[in-house]
Amino acid sequence: MGKPILDVCDLSVVRSGRIIIKDICLTINEGEFVGIVGPNGSGKSTFLLALLGILKARSGTVEIYGNPPMSRKLHRRIGWVSQAAANLPKEVKLTVRELVRLGTINSSNMFDWYDNGRHERVDKAIKMTGLENVENTDISRLSGGQRQRAVIARALATEADFILLDEPLVGIDRDSRNSLLKLLDQLCHEEGKTILMVSHDLAAMRKTAHRMVFLEESIRFDGPTSDFPDLNRLADLRGIDGPHDGHQKFEDDNWEE
Ligand SMILES: Nc1ncnc2c1ncn2[C@@H]1O[C@H](COP(=O)(O)OP(=O)(O)O)[C@@H](O)[C@H]1O
Ligand SMILES: [Mg+2]
Repeated sequence: MGKPILDVCDLSVVRSGRIIIKDICLTINEGEFVGIVGPNGSGKSTFLLALLGILKARSGTVEIYGNPPMSRKLHRRIGWVSQAAANLPKEVKLTVRELVRLGTINSSNMFDWYDNGRHERVDKAIKMTGLENVENTDISRLSGGQRQRAVIARALATEADFILLDEPLVGIDRDSRNSLLKLLDQLCHEEGKTILMVSHDLAAMRKTAHRMVFLEESIRFDGPTSDFPDLNRLADLRGIDGPHDGHQKFEDDNWEE
């Protein structure tokens, strides 16, 4: 097992006066592919935003590579693919290549037009995500799956080693979904990236993640994917009484889409 990349200890986050996540403890080691699952509204996005430092913790600590969120030392080490990634603004004219190039720009190299390393990073990211044949296409003309890849390519171009994705499978067809999962698996195994992916698509997550975390306000399960509980046991973990209530609740939550 690699060294710890993320270390979360007793994290609680409050939004609009309500406790959304409570006493979360989680350690992720280098090279892991961890899937966070949970029904809609269970606090998954809130958790990721707290890891990034966009939401402040009410209590507890977050350390990434031994630093607090937003630390300058984390610059370019974290790749963030947001829930809205596929909804890139349509009114902005931007080619795939230009979008990916944005991932290489920061305050210190913004005016340095002759950064050759930057060019190589863009090429590599486009190649890894299989977007070579659309690199000069306007992003508004891409399919949902291609857009999601383009946003992942942007994250890769930063050369981040730790990649966080929030619901990257939403709004893309099944074939694109499978190839995206394969890409993430490759990034983990062949490129040594550490991946933390949030999804309410339990089936997709089971196929790909090595380790699953079930989050609903607090962590109800954390272990190897092969040990992930079945629906009945999940209902127990969620504190739901009768099996019928449990299944009803899962449908209400749109749990498996
Ligand atoms: N900006 C906000 N202000 C207050 N509460 C919010 C805000 N965004 C989300 N919430 C609440 O936080 C809870 C968890 O939301 P979220 O983290 O988005 O869940 P998930 O990503 O698991 O669907 C929900 O009950 C939601 O209503
Ligand atoms: Mg969410």
